[in-house]
Amino acid sequence: MTSTVVVGGFFGDEGKGKIISYLAIKDNPKIIVRGGAGPNAGHTIRDGDKVYKVRMLPSGFLNKDAKVMIGPGVVINPDILKKEIQDFNVSGRSFIDKQCGIIEETHLTRDSKGELKEKIGSTGSGTGPANADRAMRVLKLAKDIDSLSALVIDVPQAINSALSANENILVEGTQGTFLSLWHGTYPFVTSKDVTASGICADVGLGPTKVDEVIVVFKSYVTRVGTGPLENELSLEEAEKKGWSEFGTVTGRQRRAANFDFNLARRAIMLNGATQICITKLDVLFPDCASKNSFDDLSKDAKAFIKNIEDELHTPVTIIGTGPDTIDVIDRRN
Ligand code: IMP
Ligand code: MG
Repeated sequence: MTSTVVVGGFFGDEGKGKIISYLAIKDNPKIIVRGGAGPNAGHTIRDGDKVYKVRMLPSGFLNKDAKVMIGPGVVINPDILKKEIQDFNVSGRSFIDKQCGIIEETHLTRDSKGELKEKIGSTGSGTGPANADRAMRVLKLAKDIDSLSALVIDVPQAINSALSANENILVEGTQGTFLSLWHGTYPFVTSKDVTASGICADVGLGPTKVDEVIVVFKSYVTRVGTGPLENELSLEEAEKKGWSEFGTVTGRQRRAANFDFNLARRAIMLNGATQICITKLDVLFPDCASKNSFDDLSKDAKAFIKNIEDELHTPVTIIGTGPDTIDVIDRRN
């Protein structure tokens, strides 16, 4: 009945994985489908004392009643995918599109040295070289790989049929708006467009079929790898604020800055956001940790959220207050 698209508003690592995992359980969509670049993405999801680090599967897999799918726009590392399906116990309900591109050894090699690694600070996951080969029309697709045959379906058909049957669909973006190949800080960007339009194209969801676009912002900005970051703090300042983070995929320390309204305003525009999600409010305001009601937030935390709504003219409907999937304030309805 509703299609909801969730994308990152800054440079990735906004905490989308945890929010998607919450929405997957709360809204109980029939299908959670991933767009975005490839295994360069890393999402950390915490469920009680279990911590999952996900690079290929959609982050919504904790809902055991949902099918999880990867759209044709995404390039796949078959080893990582198969390992996640096994480790996270999602076999029988994980599917990939027949036209997903395949990352091979050559792509990993090409991504591990030279300009991509040194100048751009790529994740080394082979995603960029695989997308380059795809543009050259020489990349293998999932339908060419025997060991993937049990997973291969027509993902656009599956999601559009589910929508026609009045089911909920959750569309999961990766990376963030300013890592978009079209709209980001080129050349310090990823190898695809990762705004809401690009993510929808990745999974085969037409523009008129989108109901809600949730843009996720962290309470502060981080960036991993090279490229501009306005008002970047020194590592010591970031550490003092508790904003020092390390990348899920590469383990690199993330650079940090204050919440950036200019970037946020542009992200709202580029993605056509209908709602905003703010994550890690508890990092800015420790007294908000694990709160589930807006009324229970401190005066300063409420003012921070109110200011974002006023500046961006878009409602903040979801607020993350801690690492666990249930550490959320949900103001929808
Ligand atoms: P690539 O996507 O591996 O080619 O890397 C290009 C740039 O995007 C580098 O600065 C990476 O650190 C960054 N990047 C790619 N994927 C992510 C992500 O999921 N989160 C944060 N940064 C990312
Ligand atoms: Mg990440």
